[in-house]
Amino acid sequence: MLSPREAVRTLPSYRPPLAGRDGLRSDFNENTVGCSPRVLERVRRTSGEELARYPERAPIENSVATFLGIQPEEVLLTNGVDEAIHLLCEAYLQAGDEALIVVPTYSMYRIYMMAAGADVVSVPAAEDFRFPVADVCRRITPRTRMIAIANPNNPTGSIAKQEELMTIARSAPDAAVLVDEAYFEFCGQTTIAKRDEKNLFVARTFSKAYGMAGLRVGMLIGEEAQMRAIRRVSSPYNVNALALACLPEAIADQGYIQQYVGEVLAGRARLERSLQECGVQFWPSAANFVLARVGSTAEDSAAFVEHMRRRGILVRDRSSDHGCVGCVRITLGPREHTDRLLEALTSTIAELGIPEGASQA
Ligand SMILES: Cc1ncc(COP(=O)(O)O)c(C=O)c1O
Repeated sequence: MLSPREAVRTLPSYRPPLAGRDGLRSDFNENTVGCSPRVLERVRRTSGEELARYPERAPIENSVATFLGIQPEEVLLTNGVDEAIHLLCEAYLQAGDEALIVVPTYSMYRIYMMAAGADVVSVPAAEDFRFPVADVCRRITPRTRMIAIANPNNPTGSIAKQEELMTIARSAPDAAVLVDEAYFEFCGQTTIAKRDEKNLFVARTFSKAYGMAGLRVGMLIGEEAQMRAIRRVSSPYNVNALALACLPEAIADQGYIQQYVGEVLAGRARLERSLQECGVQFWPSAANFVLARVGSTAEDSAAFVEHMRRRGILVRDRSSDHGCVGCVRITLGPREHTDRLLEALTSTIAELGIPEGASQA
């Protein structure tokens, strides 16, 4: 029996459901409808010859760079943001380094950091899950080689200010600082303009607003010399041909994105109002989801998830995240999905009640 490296043997496992997600998918922050019809049309036109060839990333990287108003050398297309995180860990971390995250946050940071052999330093979010800029600065040491920040953050929906992110980047000149903008389209705030900062990287994805999570495509943006280092550890064929063929269509259909984002933001306001009316504590979100405290124990949130599932709506239990006992994360979609969601939500709350200690004061 082979034994994996120690860093791998001691990894915590992240087990999202990989099958059986039947119902309205309000659990994974995906687009709950699908991608632009232009993308689907491009999929239908795919030829066998196109799939027989190794994918050619460069021309599409050029189009993406033009879309972002940056140079092609400053962007690398990746197999989702997950691969971008993995590549950063691969390029900058080794055993004994420190890597810093603010908890609660996206699970894959810790996993890739630990797999690279780094010691992960978890800094708890400030009150109401605000970004703890001073605490992060205090925990930076000469061993800090990577800092990952989801902005907006998952699962809290909170957002750090641009000045705070720059304070972090400048306080840790020897660390790769990743600003993960997976939910950029829902808040419009970006750090891309600061990409000349030598240690700063920005990640974006087509998995969320663009509705292409199944195609697996994201990107990493950074200063040209840093990106050369990242390209060294990346496969030249990391993004598949179908995803590459679809990207220009996805980017060209900004009308579709604007329409979808508009509906999500309206749905988010409706959900936040409903939660307030029901006396459920929640945290104002800058993304396409809202974190809400539906109980005071992990059993409460599990019961809530199960009752919603019986009503055909999947939501995500976040009780095991730092500071999130009794919490669920609910993803928004277009109007008809919000209607279904709110109906199930109010019935579930009426049935289960909101236990003492969890309800809003
Ligand atoms: C903050 C954050 N980053 C990255 C991802 C994964 O993105 P991708 O599908 O592009 O790998 C997620 C997905 O939930 C996320 O919440």
